[in-house]
Amino acid sequence: MIYLKSEEEIELLRENNLLVSATLAEVGRHIAPGVTTKELDRIAEEFIRSHGAVPAFLGYNGYPASLCVSVNEQVVHGIPSDYALREGDVVSVDCGTFMKGFVGDSAYTFAVGEITPEVQRLLDTTKEALYKGTEQARPGNRVGDISAAVQYCAETAGYSVVRELVGHGLGRKMHEDPEVPNYGARGRGPLLKAGMVICIEPMINMGVKQVVFERDGWTVRTRDRKPSAHYEFAVAITKNGPDVLTDFSVIEQALKK
Ligand code: MF3
Ligand code: CO
Repeated sequence: MIYLKSEEEIELLRENNLLVSATLAEVGRHIAPGVTTKELDRIAEEFIRSHGAVPAFLGYNGYPASLCVSVNEQVVHGIPSDYALREGDVVSVDCGTFMKGFVGDSAYTFAVGEITPEVQRLLDTTKEALYKGTEQARPGNRVGDISAAVQYCAETAGYSVVRELVGHGLGRKMHEDPEVPNYGARGRGPLLKAGMVICIEPMINMGVKQVVFERDGWTVRTRDRKPSAHYEFAVAITKNGPDVLTDFSVIEQALKK
């Protein structure tokens, strides 16, 4: 069941996703060698609550934290811990908020200090794949048009696409229909209509596409332990095309200072 959102509801989703953007910017300002992933979680939770929202991930299916913090070969759903970030790590930070009846959900992969050009290219390509998919998020297209655009971008760059986890509709619940895979065929899948809001979230691996689900019940890592990148934002489909509700520019501005 796909719920179409009114303009007012889309604005509430925008408020949430802008708060997620600001939270990711605040987390990004604190990312440095020596900082533990638990400290990042505390910063995010405090920031979210001080802005009148609650962390959407905390307690979700029993999840124990406000952020998912996934380092290097961890793809997604890394649980914040006493691990201290090291120069050269890449860290996906996934964040959710709930306020005014709606959810925000976005993720950004940060570099810790200097990273190799090879890993930087993985990050750049994953973000580009997200943008290529987003261009397809318009009425009359199908979910498969988004999926195929993401997959083409990642695979022509020599990377592989994680299959086990997918993007999703976003609304009063964090995970609504439709599923938005990062692989697929053009012209297939559910028809996109104005009023749909989806999260597009490519998870792209430098090596093989296969992943392993860790015994902690949450963490997903690459089978070959090569690095993975993950970017996610929320997009409203409007009659004028995609309207991105998350603002990566506030994150990228924060990183410049
Ligand atoms: N942000 C993730 C997603 O897009 C959800 C995190 S799962 C949680 O699906 F349990 F941590 F909330
Ligand atoms: Co999501």
